[in-house]
Amino acid sequence: MKITVFNGSPRAEKGNTHIMVEEFLSGAKEAGAETENIFLVKNNIKHCLGCYNCWIQTPGECIIKDDMKELLSKFIETDIVVFATPLYVDNVSGIMKNFMDRLIPVLDPYFKKDENGECRHTNRYNKSPKIVVISNSGFPEQSHFQVLQLLFRRIAKNMQSEVIGEIYRGGGPILGNKMLLLTPFIHNYKKCLHKAGKEIVENLKLSDETIQKLEKPIIPDEQYISGANKSWDKTLAKIKDKL
Ligand SMILES: Cc1cc2nc3c(=O)[nH]c(=O)nc-3n(C[C@H](O)[C@H](O)[C@H](O)COP(=O)(O)O)c2cc1C
Repeated sequence: MKITVFNGSPRAEKGNTHIMVEEFLSGAKEAGAETENIFLVKNNIKHCLGCYNCWIQTPGECIIKDDMKELLSKFIETDIVVFATPLYVDNVSGIMKNFMDRLIPVLDPYFKKDENGECRHTNRYNKSPKIVVISNSGFPEQSHFQVLQLLFRRIAKNMQSEVIGEIYRGGGPILGNKMLLLTPFIHNYKKCLHKAGKEIVENLKLSDETIQKLEKPIIPDEQYISGANKSWDKTLAKIKDKL
């Protein structure tokens, strides 16, 4: 089984999204999956031109000559795709959105009503990778991922696929915090991510127990908020000193 991560954080290896992805992939590898971790920011991905040439002149292929050609084949060939993105303005990052727009060549132009009576395009290929979503946000509450939850469910329908796992972490910046006091809490959360990676490979879903653990705050929201505000105080004071 092949799992391919497309990470849409501009912070790449330094990102909180990457901390989540690393743990998830280590579990997936342990369960025997072949994995690939792609940082979209390191690729040249131009935005979609809306010309529909990928449906007309060169079916299945975009006319733009950039890295998307290779990324598209990786997307088509993988069994499980992980859309990994920081939450930006309640949505995916711009880098991720550009990438998602450029996946349109996997569909063909024809309209067809699905089982809910809603129009979709048919899929050009016989198979579509199953979808896992990994995201983190600056605000601590899990409710900030409402848009992403709906978005990826609809994307799965558009692609005749399914979302088999969603891992959302409010207050993601805590994952990179080196304070000794926080280490055991972060360690426990990372263990859950590792287990989630294993479960996805072994069962193509997350267990209720793992979902419950992943949804719990790493530390209480109030503690996170006061820590975040103190850290902003410090950062802004340093800047003031320099001015
Ligand atoms: C442009 C921008 C928009 C953001 N929008 C939100 C948001 O709507 N809600 C939120 O909780 N955090 C938001 N954040 C915070 C990021 O989600 C957070 O810092 C996250 O940890 C970044 O992940 P990364 O390190 O993998 O890039 C935003 C950050 C940036 C730079």
